[in-house]
Amino acid sequence: MATAQAGGCPFRPFSKTYLADPYPTLNTLREQGPVFFDDELGVYVVTRHAEVEAVFHDHETFSAANAQDPIVPLGAQALELLADAGFRRLKTMSNADGEFHSRIRRHNQVGFSPRRLRSMEPIVRSSATELIDAMFTRASRPDGVDGAVRADLVAALSYPLPAGIIFALLGFDPEDTELLKSWAGNRMLFSWGRPTDDEQAEIAGDMLRYWDYCEAHTARRLAAPADDFTSDLVRIHLEDPEAIAPAEISHVIYGFSFAGHETTTNLISNTVRRLLETPGAWSELVADRSLIPAAVDEGLRHDSSVLVWRRRAAVATEIGGVAIPAGAAVVLLLGAANHDPRVFADPDRFDLHRTDAHRHLSFGWGKHYCLGAPLAKLEVAVVLETLLDRAPGLRLAPGPQLAFHPNVSFRGPRELWVEWDGDGRA
Ligand code: HEM
Repeated sequence: MATAQAGGCPFRPFSKTYLADPYPTLNTLREQGPVFFDDELGVYVVTRHAEVEAVFHDHETFSAANAQDPIVPLGAQALELLADAGFRRLKTMSNADGEFHSRIRRHNQVGFSPRRLRSMEPIVRSSATELIDAMFTRASRPDGVDGAVRADLVAALSYPLPAGIIFALLGFDPEDTELLKSWAGNRMLFSWGRPTDDEQAEIAGDMLRYWDYCEAHTARRLAAPADDFTSDLVRIHLEDPEAIAPAEISHVIYGFSFAGHETTTNLISNTVRRLLETPGAWSELVADRSLIPAAVDEGLRHDSSVLVWRRRAAVATEIGGVAIPAGAAVVLLLGAANHDPRVFADPDRFDLHRTDAHRHLSFGWGKHYCLGAPLAKLEVAVVLETLLDRAPGLRLAPGPQLAFHPNVSFRGPRELWVEWDGDGRA
């Protein structure tokens, strides 16, 4: 059996070059081999579509238990803070295996039933319209640019929209949105970044406050169920206390309120960016709205907001002919798999007419397949529809290079400046 060699190209996922554009590195790593061992993170890294998909499918050999662990181990200060507060890293769903996972997921599906999704659509539509209208009203007119008006699409739209939607789904009080967002903001740095000890301690404190909030919210819904996802779970508990415990409900909503937030913010920003920078793509959508679902799938494939996911080898095994010891952490390079020329023709090209973009692995695959995928896709589609109506002449504003969040997996620009002429109808 082969050994896992990194070959000539190092991974270095925290380097400036990688963060600015990971795809040249991901492409090189994938073509060097299906698996390599990364000394810096101490993980086996899987690069090709077939092997990543096979790992996702084989949930007996590959446990999901490490899916939420910080990729860089926590320092003593943060660990102590969490331990003192009695914070237990319990299973939510994405980091659970076996019967526990199946039970929790079965009940969670009520939150994504066609009925609940239908009830969310008008909320998504009115939030998108409200935010886009506000973006147009508040946009700035920079000096020296003829008639052009500018706004940061991240701050105005792709950041607030998914947070508002997931919080509404869970039944959080809209008045708490800013507070919740400030607690949630650094979670991706915690799980996928390299925060300093002080940053870790600060984020751990926010996580504890967030945790208390979720427990209090569950308790309120237990006392008086309403019409939201938390209450759906509470009703299941009230009918059959064995089905799901209140502590498990708190865990689920704690997990969901993160899962449905930065992932979708970045997906909206990445997709709009690619549509605006690819010659002809935006005007094709203006002319033919039936291409919107294809745009959403190609956004997910070409520039996924989740570049990396994790598993742990439950037993000694092999991937792509490379030996993997029992207990080894395995990193799946979804971004490299989504650009694998063994599956996608001319993979680095953003192409609205690709018929197989849906074969991307950005939502994972198998029994942990992203439960929020239909909602996330709905949000991007509604944003595109609304922007196309309101600003068919939208374009990227000239300016400095995009800057990305400093973490290994959750990829999206911190700011995305767009511009349009006058009233938005160029
Ligand atoms: C409304 C937004 C979203 C919600 C509510 C959501 C929720 C979830 C949940 C609950 C899981 C765990 C499922 C399980 O373990 O059975 C999950 C898994 C996952 N989600 Fe999402 N998600 C959202 C958006 C996204 C987006 C935009 C992406 C990436 C583009 C994404 C990527 C993933 C991945 C990679 C997994 C792991 C799949 C696996 O382990 O096989 N999610 N999501």
